[in-house]
Amino acid sequence: MNRALLDKAIGGTLYEAVASHIAKLIESGTLCPGERTPSVRQLRRQLSVSASTVMEAYRLLESRGLVRARPQSGYFVRGSTAARGKGRSDAAASTLPEPSVSRPSPLAEPVAVADLAASLAARIGHSNVLQLGPAVPAADLLPVEALSRLYGRLARRSRETVHGYITPPGYLPLRRQIARRLIDAGCNRSPDDILITHGATEAVHLCLRAITRPGDVVAVESPTYYGSLEAIESLGLRAQAIPTSAREGMDLDALERALHAGGIRAILISCNFANPLGSIMSDDNKRRLIQLAKTYRLPVIDDDIYGDLAFDEERPAALAAFDDEGWVLAVGSLSKTVSPGLRIGWCCPGRFAGQVLRLKLAASHANAGMAQLVAATFLAEGRYERQVRRLRRYYAQQAERFREVVVEAFPSTTRVTKPRGGHVLWIEAPVGVDSLRLYDRALTHRISIAPGPLFSATGEHRHCLRLNLAVPWSGEVKQALSTLGTLLTVC
Ligand SMILES: Cc1ncc(COP(=O)(O)O)c(C=O)c1O
Repeated sequence: MNRALLDKAIGGTLYEAVASHIAKLIESGTLCPGERTPSVRQLRRQLSVSASTVMEAYRLLESRGLVRARPQSGYFVRGSTAARGKGRSDAAASTLPEPSVSRPSPLAEPVAVADLAASLAARIGHSNVLQLGPAVPAADLLPVEALSRLYGRLARRSRETVHGYITPPGYLPLRRQIARRLIDAGCNRSPDDILITHGATEAVHLCLRAITRPGDVVAVESPTYYGSLEAIESLGLRAQAIPTSAREGMDLDALERALHAGGIRAILISCNFANPLGSIMSDDNKRRLIQLAKTYRLPVIDDDIYGDLAFDEERPAALAAFDDEGWVLAVGSLSKTVSPGLRIGWCCPGRFAGQVLRLKLAASHANAGMAQLVAATFLAEGRYERQVRRLRRYYAQQAERFREVVVEAFPSTTRVTKPRGGHVLWIEAPVGVDSLRLYDRALTHRISIAPGPLFSATGEHRHCLRLNLAVPWSGEVKQALSTLGTLLTVC
C-alpha cells in the first residue's frame, strides 16, 4: 500500500489508515506474535507519510492491544501463537477460572514465614519425593553436560581466575554478557552498572538492606515468593501485601492508595511472571509504577528472575527499562534458566549502587571465580539463547498439561492460573481446603507441593497451593496430579 492507495482507503485520518494497514498484516499472519513490526523509518518511506503519523498509528495499535512498544527496540506483535491455534486441550483447560484478585490484610504486618519454610524444606529433601513443591528446574531440563564440559576445560586453562579473589562488582566478561542480555529486556546498562551476587537471593537481601531500616514497611504482591518474605523477616522489616491479579500483577490503584496513606518505604515486586501467580504487568502499568516511584521517591526492587521465560511472546521489558531516574533496583539470576547450582545472580541498583556495593563487600568480599567464568563462557558461546528457547517451549507445554489434569481431577470449584511465562502454577482450591494438611498427606504419597501460607506474611492463602512445572512430564507426574486432586477432597 502506498500513499496514493492510503489516500483512497481513508475516510478517517491518515494515522488510522496506517494502523489498519498494519493490523491487516497481523490478521493475515504476515506478521506473527512476537515479531518486530516494520520500523517507523520503513513505513515512512513505504507509505510516504510522516514519522509522527506512523507513531500515532502505533500508539493506536498499542491501545487496541495489537502491538507493544519495547524501549529502544521498536514495536512487536502482541498475542500468542498458542492462543491463536487453540487446541482441544487448551479449550478444556480454560473451563476453570483464574484466581480472582487477592484481598490481603490492609495492614503492614511483621512477617513470620521462615519457620514454616525451614520446617517444610527439611521434610522434602528425599530423592524419592516427586518435587512438585520447590520451584527448582529438574537437572534433566538443564544444560548439565555442557556445563560439566566447561567446568573441566576452564578449570585447566584459567587458574588465576578460578583460584583468585574476584572482588565486587564481579568478573568483567560476565558483566558484559549480562549487559548484552539486558538489552533484550529493554535496558541499556553498562557492565559497570552490574553487581554479581550469590544468586538473586543475595541480590534482594543487599538491595533491601541498602534501602530500608529495621521496622520499615515494604509493599509486596499477594501472594508473593516466600524467599522475599524471608528476606523481609530476617531484616526486621514489615510487609504490606497489596491486592494482586493473576493476570496483571500488583493492583496499582490499591498500591497508590497505600502509598497515599503513608508508611511504605520500598516495593519488592516481580513485574514479569511473578512467583507464584505467573502474572505479568503491562508496559503501561510499568510506566505508571515508575511514575509512582518518582512521585513518592520510593525505591522499587524488581526481581526479574523469570523474565526470559516468556512462553510465546517476545521477552517482556523489565521495569528498569522505563526508569530514567534510577529508582529501580533490578535483580536477575541464571538459576531458573541455566543452573541454580551456579549461584549466579546480579543486580543493577540504580541510584543506590554505592550502598549496595559497600554491603556486598562487607558481606562476602568476593564471589566464586569458577562459576562466574563458566557462566560468562556459556553466555558468550551463544548457548543461553538455545537453552532458553527450549525451556520456554517446554514450560508452555507443561502449563497446558498440568492445567488439563487439574481440570479433570480437581474439584470443579478450583481456580487455576494461566501463566504466560515462568514455571509455576498457582491453584486456588475450594475455600475450606487446608493446604498444610494436603502437604502432609501428599508427602505420604511421595509428592511435595508448596502450600499457600508460605506465600503470605501472615499465613493467608491457606486453601491454595503452588506447583512446579519444571519437572519432566511422565505418567508418574500425571498420576501425582490426579492423586492431589483426590486428596484435596479430604483435606
Ligand atoms: C522470584 C524468585 N526470586 C529469587 C529466587 C531465588 O533465586 P536464586 O536461586 O538466584 O537465589 C527464586 C527461586 O525460586 C524466585 O522464585
